Amino acid sequence: MLEECLAWADACLVGAGTLRAHGGTCLIHGEDLLRQRRRRQQPDQPPLVVVSRHARLDGDLPVFQQPLECWWLAPGQARVDRVPPWFRGAIPLPHWRALLPTMARKGWRRLVVLGGAQLATTLASHDLLHEIHLTLCPTLLGGGHLWLQDRALIPPNLWRPVESRSLGGGEWLCRWRRQSECEPSPDSPP
Ligand SMILES: NC(=O)c1ccc[n+]([C@@H]2O[C@H](COP(=O)([O-])OP(=O)(O)OC[C@H]3O[C@@H](n4cnc5c(N)ncnc54)[C@H](OP(=O)(O)O)[C@@H]3O)[C@@H](O)[C@H]2O)c1
Repeated sequence: MLEECLAWADACLVGAGTLRAHGGTCLIHGEDLLRQRRRRQQPDQPPLVVVSRHARLDGDLPVFQQPLECWWLAPGQARVDRVPPWFRGAIPLPHWRALLPTMARKGWRRLVVLGGAQLATTLASHDLLHEIHLTLCPTLLGGGHLWLQDRALIPPNLWRPVESRSLGGGEWLCRWRRQSECEPSPDSPP
């Protein structure tokens, strides 16, 4: 399921904390999905846009050896005059309201957010999420394992369920779309 979303995407956003925790990111392996991207003249893997104020990420992280382009998205007043060589370049973002036009200028209109909590909270609070995909399986984690940061809320009345299906292995996929965007469009993710 994640591979299908990646195959749909022009680019993926991820918070630096998630990369520090996981080291690498998920890749598209399915031959059909790779063929679809090649037909659309897209790179095999969507570029990974790493959100960080200072880009202090270890260049030895496995992600920087993975076969994909990594970009640094620098929100706020971050200085981008020194870009670590493992990034293809820096993208200054003076304000989150400018996110979609900034991404569109690079040709990236279909964006997939890979987390984590801080980035998801920021995007939710600026009303920048258009679909939510949750996969559910019967493992409940307590403590700090949260999808959003403390006290952040995505109000339920804004969202309409558009799909729930079994992914096999006891796992379910549930998707919600913004109420105002409930008609499926070619730009909706799979
Ligand atoms: N269950 C899931 O589906 C899922 C998905 C993804 C991640 N996770 C988990 O989430 C945890 C990481 O969460 P997190 O909240 O620390 O991670 P995060 O959002 O991935 O990363 C936080 C860091 O990213 C940068 N960042 C994110 N949003 C920013 C913003 N609005 N403004 C400026 N910088 C921003 C900052 O990097 P700098 O410090 O470099 O400035 C910040 O310290 C990991 O344990 C991971 O396993 C779970």
